Amino acid sequence: MPWGCYMTRVNLSGHKTAGRDRMEDHMGYRIVVAGATGNVGREMLNILHEREFPVDEIAVLASRRSLGTEVSFGDRTLKTQDLATFDFTGWDIALFAIGSDATKEFAPKAAKAGCVVIDNSSLYRYDPDVPLVVPEVNADAVMGYSKKNIIANPNCSTAQMVVALKPLHDRARIKRVVVSTYQSVSGAGKEGMDELWDQTKAVYNPVTEVPPKKFQKQIAFNVIPHIDVFLEDGSTKEEWKMVAETKKILDKSIKVTATCVRVPVFVGHGESINIETEEFLDEDEARDILRESPGIMVVDKREDGGYVTPIDCVGDYATFISRIRQDSTIDNGLNFWCVSDNLRKGAALNAVQIAEVFGQRVLKKG
Ligand SMILES: NC(=O)c1ccc[n+]([C@@H]2O[C@H](COP(=O)([O-])OP(=O)(O)OC[C@H]3O[C@@H](n4cnc5c(N)ncnc54)[C@H](OP(=O)(O)O)[C@@H]3O)[C@@H](O)[C@H]2O)c1
Repeated sequence: MPWGCYMTRVNLSGHKTAGRDRMEDHMGYRIVVAGATGNVGREMLNILHEREFPVDEIAVLASRRSLGTEVSFGDRTLKTQDLATFDFTGWDIALFAIGSDATKEFAPKAAKAGCVVIDNSSLYRYDPDVPLVVPEVNADAVMGYSKKNIIANPNCSTAQMVVALKPLHDRARIKRVVVSTYQSVSGAGKEGMDELWDQTKAVYNPVTEVPPKKFQKQIAFNVIPHIDVFLEDGSTKEEWKMVAETKKILDKSIKVTATCVRVPVFVGHGESINIETEEFLDEDEARDILRESPGIMVVDKREDGGYVTPIDCVGDYATFISRIRQDSTIDNGLNFWCVSDNLRKGAALNAVQIAEVFGQRVLKKG
């Protein structure tokens, strides 16, 4: 099944059937999931199973402290192995979700052993020898994998934003993007989710105190305009990532300015996006273009509840767009609201989609 047809199926029919037709002619792959006990790793296993990715053999890895921890893969239960002693020889693809420090140590080992790494950390995203891929936007870039045997997955906030920007850019050339994010705590890993949960309980039971650890201030019943470290110009690294990654994936000439904010939501990132285009783009035409575009669902009724919120998108594949409207303060401007499951399109789903493209175009098993 050609890639274009596959993308349409993602857009129209959702995840339950999307993988089946595409892969049924292939023999299976030997797949490794590194970080299988984490938020993203667990979603990778769910998504590989949901999309019926043709897996012949699967290995699940984590740190030594989780040795033997059980994780689910469909109706199977798998025991995690120690990444530090795992031999990647003979494995086709390794999906990494283990953070930059561990990636630095283990990704080159896997790549050297001939196993292609699809990495979720930020370590390789800006490396000119490593493609940074969102399949709806730049699937062809996958072919640049061979310099390092590594393909990078973008930051969660960038992934959903470029899916939305791509079709509008193709039609009207985006000059500038102003984005403010409302990012859930799962973007900070399982410890981030625990901190919100524990602090929320502590608000109702003030005997226990849960001081901020993963986040810089209390996250329960609060919002924090600070994600990742501060840079010299006053922006944060998370904001810089949205700028640099949008340029690498979509178009280096697009100007992006971002404000990234952590909110007390468990899963699902929201983004308020304003774009300025070279050509005028009417809001109705923009809505129609987005409706027809891969990976996007438009929910845009101008009535109570006629838009998507983070809770609505949990477990889904799509990038949801709502509140599309003209920005009347400039000649060619649009505003919209963009929401997606950060553990899925922002991480695990995008990585599996890359594996699908890579399997189809490079490994061609079967
Ligand atoms: N969450 C998101 O929305 C999102 C989006 C895009 C990218 N990412 C990236 O994805 C990666 C994982 O994020 P996450 O949210 O899944 O984090 P997480 O829930 O904290 O899980 C981290 C995983 O990495 C494993 N790990 C950590 N250090 C390791 C080591 N030295 N050796 C082997 N395994 C090790 C952990 O194993 P143990 O259980 O044994 O500690 C665990 O399985 C990070 O690089 C993150 O930046 C996350």
